[in-house]
Amino acid sequence: MNTVEELVNFRNLYGLTHDDIANRLDINKSQVKKIEEGSIGIPEWYSLAMAGLKSRFNEDRKKHVKSAKGDFTFIDLFAGIGGIRTAFEKVGGTCLFSSEYDPYPAKMYEDNFGEKPAGDITKIDEKDIPAHDVLVGGFPCQPFSIAGVSKKGSLGRKHGFEDETQGTLFFDVARIIKHHKPKMFLLENVKNLKSHDKGNTFKVILKTLRNLGYDVQEKIIDGGLLVPQHRERIYIVGTLDHSQPFEFPLIKAKNKTLDDILEPEGTVDPKYTLSDKLWAGLQRHADKHKAKGNGFGFGLKKRNEVARTLSARYYKDGSEILIYQGPKKNPRRLTPDECARLMGFPKKFKITVSDTRAYKCFGNSVVVPVVERLAKQMSKCKILNNNSRLVQ
Ligand SMILES: C[S@@+](CC[C@H](N)C(=O)[O-])C[C@H]1O[C@@H](n2cnc3c(N)ncnc32)[C@H](O)[C@@H]1O
Repeated sequence: MNTVEELVNFRNLYGLTHDDIANRLDINKSQVKKIEEGSIGIPEWYSLAMAGLKSRFNEDRKKHVKSAKGDFTFIDLFAGIGGIRTAFEKVGGTCLFSSEYDPYPAKMYEDNFGEKPAGDITKIDEKDIPAHDVLVGGFPCQPFSIAGVSKKGSLGRKHGFEDETQGTLFFDVARIIKHHKPKMFLLENVKNLKSHDKGNTFKVILKTLRNLGYDVQEKIIDGGLLVPQHRERIYIVGTLDHSQPFEFPLIKAKNKTLDDILEPEGTVDPKYTLSDKLWAGLQRHADKHKAKGNGFGFGLKKRNEVARTLSARYYKDGSEILIYQGPKKNPRRLTPDECARLMGFPKKFKITVSDTRAYKCFGNSVVVPVVERLAKQMSKCKILNNNSRLVQ
């Protein structure tokens, strides 16, 4: 490994921090940083040591891929804390590769699945990702620039998904699908993906996926069918089998209420109860909006009700889900354990980051039982059951 780019890409591909490299080579972290910043040249011994490390990591990944058991293999993009992975493993899938660039969800992911996700997907060559049967991911939604397309077109470049999607994270999903042609994929996103940029974003996404050879079906599903939280998300499923388009399962409502996921009354640490100042501020803010005829307000809920959507900003004031504690007490926030249950995570799922980070991680995640229903339905599809598992 002779260039800084090669060194950084290798570190990103295996989700290694500067500390990880420094510990493995028994050197100072600042030395690793200086080499990667280019402020000192790459010493020959370093180049050799990193090449050795790279071949060891590559061998380990190959072994992991070869030893994959289970009914089908999958890769987990924009993995977060692994809500989608939890569901796909439950129905017999084996994960071969994951990517998550935020160190906090990545830590929870490693602590729960024993595997460090790779880092920034935009810096990962699709050829370095193992072949897989299913690709899953909840990619952040960004607009596609029409202006950019015509400008490139006018420069004589061909139109195609590369031109239309370049510079967006969906482009990275598409280039990986294009290269590996997984038998199926599941993409998850906020409901607004459909109306984003006046519908243009969704149109480009569907067109791109269909042009890559897939039958594509989509449906908005409310997590509230299976957990006590109103959470509408769009699920996009693609299959290479045009003779059997994917049919979304019918999910029967379980009619859960917050009581099913809350700690017993009176047992929660008082630190989760809102201070007088914060509670008064929230009420004032809500009154002001009400007077103007706006819908803003906090989501004060009793135990027999259903929560609003848990968002990644819940850590700020927790206003979207506040638990009523009787007339003599201010309401309280959910605890991180309660958030895990509200998203349908299994009991054994470990929370290994601070409360603030955990709220953000769960707010970004998926309702696991909904994804599990989809994963189960996908696992029954003929194309995943023809005994020709894709492995390298
Ligand atoms: C909506 S969350 C997905 C959560 C996941 N489905 C789960 O169950 O926890 C999107 C994730 O994509 C990650 N992300 C965004 N850009 C990325 C990139 N370029 N490379 C890798 N991960 C990225 C974010 O840090 C975030 O955790």
